[in-house]
Amino acid sequence: MNADLLTTTRAFRRRLDLTRPVTRPELLDCLDIAVHAPSGTNRQPWRFLVVEEPALKEAVAEYYRKGFAAYLSAKTPRPDQLRDLGSGQYLADHLHEVPALVLVCAAGRPPANPLQLANFYGSVYPVVWNLLLALHSRGLGSTLTTAHLAFEREVADLLGIPFDEVAQVALLPVAHLKPGPAPRPGPRTPAAEVTQWGRWDSA
Ligand SMILES: Cc1cc2nc3c(=O)[nH]c(=O)nc-3n(C[C@H](O)[C@H](O)[C@H](O)COP(=O)(O)O)c2cc1C
Repeated sequence: MNADLLTTTRAFRRRLDLTRPVTRPELLDCLDIAVHAPSGTNRQPWRFLVVEEPALKEAVAEYYRKGFAAYLSAKTPRPDQLRDLGSGQYLADHLHEVPALVLVCAAGRPPANPLQLANFYGSVYPVVWNLLLALHSRGLGSTLTTAHLAFEREVADLLGIPFDEVAQVALLPVAHLKPGPAPRPGPRTPAAEVTQWGRWDSA
């Protein structure tokens, strides 16, 4: 296993090359890797919609920007989150310029029951992460985003997604990575600090 790929697949935003096209074969290659993700009873509920047309990207980006603004205004960021939010704003401002917007969807609607809900999203998020890894392994990059989901129905109507049958889960803006230093692992709390052994110690 390539641990470097796992630890350096970051939220790529400013590194996205907005000028270089991403071809369909490049995307399909990565999607073909991604679909090896696990899902409950191997039902493979993921569906992908790739948005490339400028007018559609612009319309999706408008909803994204509104969702991101609402998210920001509801948040009091910690100092260590400011950098991430700054690059988040950059992505929001440039989303329509990203060559391909990959909308990862799931067949069905999110259920209310917590167990079923875990199964629903747990059967799609592995494909999302697999896709992020596959893209990075091929010199492409993206960021897992959800901000547009505040307007899921509007985006469904815009793109012809049957809202009652298909849930949108994540939007991945995909581009080649601009040349630059090799990405480094992101800030993470060491596992030992968030791991307990044997019994939960609330102290
Ligand atoms: C469920 C989820 C939703 C996210 N939504 C957004 C989003 O809407 N916009 C955005 O720019 N980043 C979004 N992110 C990316 C996170 O900000 C990013 O993964 C995190 O800050 C770690 O970044 P790093 O790997 O570069 O350290 C989301 C991540 C997750 C897991």
